[in-house]
Formats: sequence, structure tokens, C-alpha cells
Amino acid sequence: MNRHCFDIAKQGYINLSSRSTKSKYDRQTFETRRIISESGLFHPMQAAVSEIIVSQNMSKESIRLLDAGCGEGSHLNSIQTRINQKKRNHSLAVGIDISKEGISLAAAEYSNAMWCVADIANIPFANEQFNFIINILSPANYSEFQRLLTDRGLVIKVVPEQHYLTELRGILYKGTGKQVYSNTPTIRYFNERFNLIAVENVQYQVSLSEHLIAPLLEMTPLSWGASQECKELILQMDLREITMDFKILVGMKQS
Ligand SMILES: C[S@@+](CC[C@H](N)C(=O)[O-])C[C@H]1O[C@@H](n2cnc3c(N)ncnc32)[C@H](O)[C@@H]1O
Repeated sequence: MNRHCFDIAKQGYINLSSRSTKSKYDRQTFETRRIISESGLFHPMQAAVSEIIVSQNMSKESIRLLDAGCGEGSHLNSIQTRINQKKRNHSLAVGIDISKEGISLAAAEYSNAMWCVADIANIPFANEQFNFIINILSPANYSEFQRLLTDRGLVIKVVPEQHYLTELRGILYKGTGKQVYSNTPTIRYFNERFNLIAVENVQYQVSLSEHLIAPLLEMTPLSWGASQECKELILQMDLREITMDFKILVGMKQS
């Protein structure tokens, strides 16, 4: 890497970012996201992503997986654990995020991946290092993804669908015209940059214990900018179920 030196932080991650960037996600957001993730709310989506990777990795080639925008790391940990249960050949997992707080939480908890602070717009790895890139509810940089993918490598992008957290969206976005979410432009842009080989919809309802309502509210950017009144309303509602709704786009590197 052009004679650059990078420190390994005592928490066990590498800071590969040349500039310090303040992410909108602070430690508390990541901690609440971790609580929600560990409660199992994302399990069916994580299982679907793992299945796609396992089923697309027909050859003996080892899996080299990058999670771009991994946050506090629980998706990558879960996906990598599921892959290792199904595959015997060695696999490598790397999680990158611009947020030091997210990466430091990931490294403190999960030892089955390499964790790096890095910007997706300038990923400090050599060309063609990964045969799978996952990009879950995070921004993307498709030029960088193309560069990093091996020949016929895949990007698996997870985007929220129309009914994702619809019970919260209805209240937090009331009167803003944003209650209904459209990901049509995201999908169109993805299709322009990759050869779309599969699209999967994953929708399910999860029953919600009372103690998860506050972290659920805090973990999502949906609540950023929401009035205290709206948040109180949600906390006082007897919310017993929440809708999870995702679209998984699978695209192959364009040659
Ligand atoms: C909604 S969070 C999703 C995190 C994780 N994938 C999840 O679903 O829990 C979006 C993530 O993208 C990261 N992010 C935003 N801009 C980034 C960039 N330029 N490079 C790397 N990560 C970035 C944020 O720090 C945040 O962790």
C-alpha cells in the first residue's frame, strides 16, 4: 500500500481511513442497533443473504466476502457464521465502515472477520480481492465495488422495501409525504452498474417485546429529526409487532 503504515487499534481493528470523518451514527445508535440485531429482528434477512452466497459459490473457490458499510458488524458476523456452518472451504470476511465507533464495537465483539475503518468511496484494498460484496442498508460506491470484485464476482445489496418498519414510518413521517418509501431509483441505478442476476423479496412480521421499542426507535435514521411528541407517541403505543421488508438485489460484475 504505497509504503503507508496503519495502526492496529487496541480493540483489534485497523484504521485505513486517511481522514477523520464524523458519521451521523454515534456509539449509542450502533449500540441500540446491536440490541435490535441480537434480538433476532434481522435473522431471516441475514439467512437469505447467506443462502445466496452459499448457493452462488458452486466452485471450490474460497469465499472472500466484504461488507461495505458494516456498522457495528452484527450482519457480517451472522452471515459469516451461517456460511461457515455450510461450507468447508476457508472463507475470509472483511467489514469496513467510515465510523470508528461502529468498527470498534464490531472488533470488540466479533472475531470471525477483519474490521477496518475505511471510506467506501476510496477502499484501500487492491483490485479483484473479493468474490462477494454485501451492502446492507448502507450507501454504495459501485465503481469501487466493480474494481474490488473478481471476474464474475457478485454484489448483494439489501434495500428497505415499502413496508419496512411501516408501523414507525406512519407516525414519524406523518404529513411529510414520506410515509411510503420508494426504492425505484436505487434499483434502476443498480441495474445500470451490474448484470442483475436475481432479486429476492424478504418480508416478515416480528413480535416485539416492550423493552425493544425504545432501541428500535433509536437505531433507525427514520427517527432523526422526529419531534419528541412523535417519539413519545410511539413509546406509549402498545406496539406488539413490527414489519420487516427488504429487497435483495444480486448483481454480477460487468466485464
Ligand atoms: C443504516 S447504517 C447500516 C449499517 C449496517 N449495514 C446495518 O444494517 O446495521 C449505514 C452505515 O453506512 C456507513 N457509512 C456511511 N457513509 C459511509 C462511507 N462513505 N464509507 C463507509 N461507510 C459509510 C455509516 O457509518 C453506517 O454505519
